[in-house]
Amino acid sequence: MLPRRSDFPDGFVFGVATSAYQIEGHGQGGAGQTHWDTFAATPGNVVRAENGARACDHLNRWPEDLDLIRDGGFDAYRFSTSWARVLPEGRGQVNAEGLDFYDRLVDGMLERGIKPALTLYHWELPVALADLGGWRNRDIGNWFADYTEIIARRLGDRLWSVAPINEPWCVAWLSHFMGIHAPGLRDIRAAARAMHHVLYAHGRAIQVLRGEGVKNLGAVCNLEYPHPASDSPEDAAAARRYDAIYNRFFVSGIFKGAYPTEVLEGLEPHLPQGWQDDFGVIGQKLDWLGLNYYTCKRVAAVDEAWPSYAEPAGPLPKTEMGWEIYPEGLGHFLRTIARDYTGGLPLYVTENGMAAPDRLLPLGQITDDDRIDYLDRHLQVCRTAIGEGVPLKGYFTWSLLDNYEWSLGYDKRFGLVHVDFETLTRTPKESWHRLRAALAGNG
Ligand code: FCB
Repeated sequence: MLPRRSDFPDGFVFGVATSAYQIEGHGQGGAGQTHWDTFAATPGNVVRAENGARACDHLNRWPEDLDLIRDGGFDAYRFSTSWARVLPEGRGQVNAEGLDFYDRLVDGMLERGIKPALTLYHWELPVALADLGGWRNRDIGNWFADYTEIIARRLGDRLWSVAPINEPWCVAWLSHFMGIHAPGLRDIRAAARAMHHVLYAHGRAIQVLRGEGVKNLGAVCNLEYPHPASDSPEDAAAARRYDAIYNRFFVSGIFKGAYPTEVLEGLEPHLPQGWQDDFGVIGQKLDWLGLNYYTCKRVAAVDEAWPSYAEPAGPLPKTEMGWEIYPEGLGHFLRTIARDYTGGLPLYVTENGMAAPDRLLPLGQITDDDRIDYLDRHLQVCRTAIGEGVPLKGYFTWSLLDNYEWSLGYDKRFGLVHVDFETLTRTPKESWHRLRAALAGNG
């Protein structure tokens, strides 16, 4: 049974999350091409070469989607603005239609009593900037600052919170070292530069937002719990390297003004010149930190070039993504991030949820007991952490809607609300109904 609202402290924020490219329909409304459009158009990168051109057509159906958030009883909506919709070339000419859309969307949230929690970059880099090297080019700090200023001036007075960049690890490592997300590079130098520039751009954006008087600024990092694959000292060291690259690099840059030695061992020769001088920008004071948490990994040492590890499959039950279900990992990060990096700073779980093959019943109901169980177990972990004194202030489920799951196309359904991608009909799943009851206090 899901915990009730009253099981959490007063003022605890319950929200849902989405992102622009995954739901809006990027082929409409004058948005520029993004590197996800070109990545998806290249065979072998994305299942069935699917892209976000239509997605959930949220661009036209947003009032219905905001109604689903209000009717579910959620307090906040974590959404993102698309850089390429606002600035089709990444710089210069603004697409007024795009900016007007976000203006109406924010007003639509406020009219429904929903707190707008904005992310400025959830991965759709305009292609004109990708042509200039994208995250490999230090100038992205200024390009991103200019885009941030446009959004801050138009929306800043009505936002509840802002985070510049969703999941720096995905932007940098997954996309430039592992090659799994756009731009699909597998190059250690590209990865090193992206790792640093993503933090530099984060800091530049925070400077601009503060300068414009925008309140409640944070960062959103994704974290995965690394289990050594065996008891060997080699696997333990491999898990520490994994932990340093994935979980510690970004929070360490922001909150300690330094990078973990295990990462520098591999990346230092490739970092941009003068990187040590950027921590003043990177370490801008924040008002909160968001953690996105889904799963754990098994990490084994392998005899290969740095970082010299492999990720064998683990034994726990898995979601449709093949991700092991391990709520304890969330508890670990809530405690250790607060203890080692953020102290009393408010923490939020800014994403948590699971993909499941949802069963459509004859009367149009959709049962998703496994998702309800997943949410329940992670919410219980949140309660425990709060009881232990962790300053956790809110929890956002990924996602409101089934949507474009990046390289995996439309197959992986994370929504509390089912989307029929033929008709675009929205149908709340059992999990949406159960959360609504829990938030209303009925458990
Ligand atoms: C996160 C992303 C989000 C979604 C979920 C499943 O890494 O932020 O867009 O893809 O994973």
